[in-house]
Amino acid sequence: MAVTVTTLMKMKEEKNRITMLTAYDYSTAKIMDEVGIDMILVGDSLGMVMLGYDDTLSVTMEDMIHHTKAVTRGAKNALVVADMPFMSYQTSVYDAMVNAGRLMKEGRAGAVKLEGGVGVAPQIKAIVDAGIPVVAHIGLTPQSVNAFGGFKVQGKDEIAAKRLIEDALAVQEAGACAVVLECVPAKLAKIVTDKLVIPTIGIGAGADCDGQVLVYQDMLGTFSGFKPKFVKEFASVGELMREGFGAYIKECKEGTFPGPEHTFAISDDVIEKLY
Ligand code: KIV
Repeated sequence: MAVTVTTLMKMKEEKNRITMLTAYDYSTAKIMDEVGIDMILVGDSLGMVMLGYDDTLSVTMEDMIHHTKAVTRGAKNALVVADMPFMSYQTSVYDAMVNAGRLMKEGRAGAVKLEGGVGVAPQIKAIVDAGIPVVAHIGLTPQSVNAFGGFKVQGKDEIAAKRLIEDALAVQEAGACAVVLECVPAKLAKIVTDKLVIPTIGIGAGADCDGQVLVYQDMLGTFSGFKPKFVKEFASVGELMREGFGAYIKECKEGTFPGPEHTFAISDDVIEKLY
C-alpha cells in the first residue's frame, strides 16, 4: 500500500512508529521500498555523503531533481520526500512555490521538506495551499550550520526549548504534514511530540518521536566522515565493500578473475580460420 500523508496521520494516531531513511539513487530506494520503509528522504545530505562537500550549502535544485528522479523510479510504496536546498525557499514565498513545484513535477516527489520554524511558516503555508505536502525540519537545521556555529544540539536552555515548541506549533499551523526534529534533547522531543497532532520524526531526538530517520550511509557504515552520537551502525556494509573491492583487485592482478564461467565461447572452427 502506497504511503500518503493520510497514512502518516493514521500511524501517529495508532502509535505505529514511522520509519524513514535517506536514499539518493534508484537501486538503494528499490531495496528500501521492498523491505517496507514508510518514507524515503532525498536529503540535501547528499551534498556530504554523495558529493563530498563539508556541508549541505552547495547543493543545487538540479542536484536535488536529478537524485529525486532516480529515487522515485525505485520507490513504489514509500512516500518520497525531497529536500529543498539552501536558498531555494528562504529568498521568498514565490521562490519556495516555484522550487517546490519543480521537485514535484520534475522529480515526481510525494512531498518536499524545508528547514526552519516560525520564519518559514509563510512559505510552508503557500506550498501547502498549492497542493504540495510539506515536511518541516526544526532543531539542528544543517543549512544554518554557520549561524549555529557548528553542528550542535538545539533547545537545551529554557528560551531555546520554548522557541523550539513555538517553531513546532508554527509549522503545524502552517499546514506541514510532519516535522523532523534534529538533535534535540529526548525529553523536549517528547513534549513536542505530545503537543502536536502531526507526526514528529526524530534524528538524534530520542525514542518518543512518532518516527525515526537516519542517513543511510551512517547506519550502514559506508561514510567515513564525522559520526554523530545519535547514529547506530545497523550493518557494517563499509567493511563488506572494502573486502569485496579488495578481493576484486587481488583476483584481477592474479588473473584468476574472470574464470571460465564468466567468459563467452566461440567454436574452434571459427578460431582456426582466424590464424
Ligand atoms: O538531508 C538530510 O538527510 C536530512 C536528515 C538529516 C533529516 O535532512
